[in-house]
Amino acid sequence: MSKIRAAITAVEGYLPDYVLTNEELSQMMDTSDEWIMTRIGIRERRMLKEEGKATSDMAAIAVQNLLKNNNIAPEEIDGVICCTVTPDMHFPATASIVADKCGIHGGMSMDMNVGCSGFIYGLKTASLYVESGFCKKLLLIGAEKMTSAVDYQDRATAPIFGDGAAVVLLEPTEEEVGVMDAILCSDGVGRKHLHMKAGGSLKPASHETVDAREHFVYQEGQAVFKWAVSKMVSVSDEIMKRNGLNADSIKYLLPHQANIRIINAVGHHMNLPEEKVLVNIEKYGNTTSATIPLLMWENQHKFKKGDNLILTSFGAGFSWGAIYVKWAI
Ligand code: UT7
Repeated sequence: MSKIRAAITAVEGYLPDYVLTNEELSQMMDTSDEWIMTRIGIRERRMLKEEGKATSDMAAIAVQNLLKNNNIAPEEIDGVICCTVTPDMHFPATASIVADKCGIHGGMSMDMNVGCSGFIYGLKTASLYVESGFCKKLLLIGAEKMTSAVDYQDRATAPIFGDGAAVVLLEPTEEEVGVMDAILCSDGVGRKHLHMKAGGSLKPASHETVDAREHFVYQEGQAVFKWAVSKMVSVSDEIMKRNGLNADSIKYLLPHQANIRIINAVGHHMNLPEEKVLVNIEKYGNTTSATIPLLMWENQHKFKKGDNLILTSFGAGFSWGAIYVKWAI
């Protein structure tokens, strides 16, 4: 019997309408379009502005469109995994809120919080559920309302992040396509460089934590930058080597969109020409768990069945990884 693999058989995405430009940010803080474009490569990002709307609302629109466009009934879905660092609430899982909003009831649902590596970790985890036969139609979501976690008084982090959501459907296949290989890594020593100080069990919310602005992303950019380049390069190298891939046989690299300089460094190290490195950071900024599935959604028309794709990411934890996917549709 041939091996069962997990294939990505559909992709959808959602971006909120409101465009937060560098010009608007420059009116809020001491920054400029020139600085943000040169140092990060972001011109604008999306913002979910409507009162009472959360991460699950963006994810639910993406899921509803996926179901509708592929004629799938909610009852057919037997698993929902939502990768996010900006859940609607501490609990319950945002995945179960999304499922409910989409009429999906009774199956497995859970969140994964692995910072910007959420989707990479989620894809490997989801593929194991599918390969084992535990799930037949599993939705893997990357969704973030990062603007709810950003301090608009902190010019070092505010320009980076944006909101968005995307979802992929995973199904079993006996063909030589789907999730082919994965490397997932982490090192908790990096936690001091990238975290949220308060709101967890270590430092529950209080007047003091709010006054000290501790409920926002805290990032020491330079340390994260150095680790991100070095780890994304080494893990991409390793996954290429052990699968006999090279710059010619890779069709596209889908790197996490944190900084154009990191993306270029990874693409350069892999000897990939510019057109093989997918980029949308200029339009959407860093949407954390959503960057890679959003890239997939926007570029799927370019992919052909059997194309070799490499996905790679680095984020809080520290966590990083790379996945080799053979496109299935
Ligand atoms: O997705 C999760 C993983 N995250 C990442 O991969 C992010 C990795 N880090 C980065 O992308 C970059 O480190 C940042 C974009 C966060 C910062 O860029 P940088 O080139 O490392 O800048 P820096 O923090 O070293 O700051 C350089 C200068 C400083 O001024 P002085 O001390 O040289 O006078 C900052 O105060 O730029 C200043 N600066 C700004 N100036 C204008 C910092 N932010 C801004 C700003 N506008 N928004």
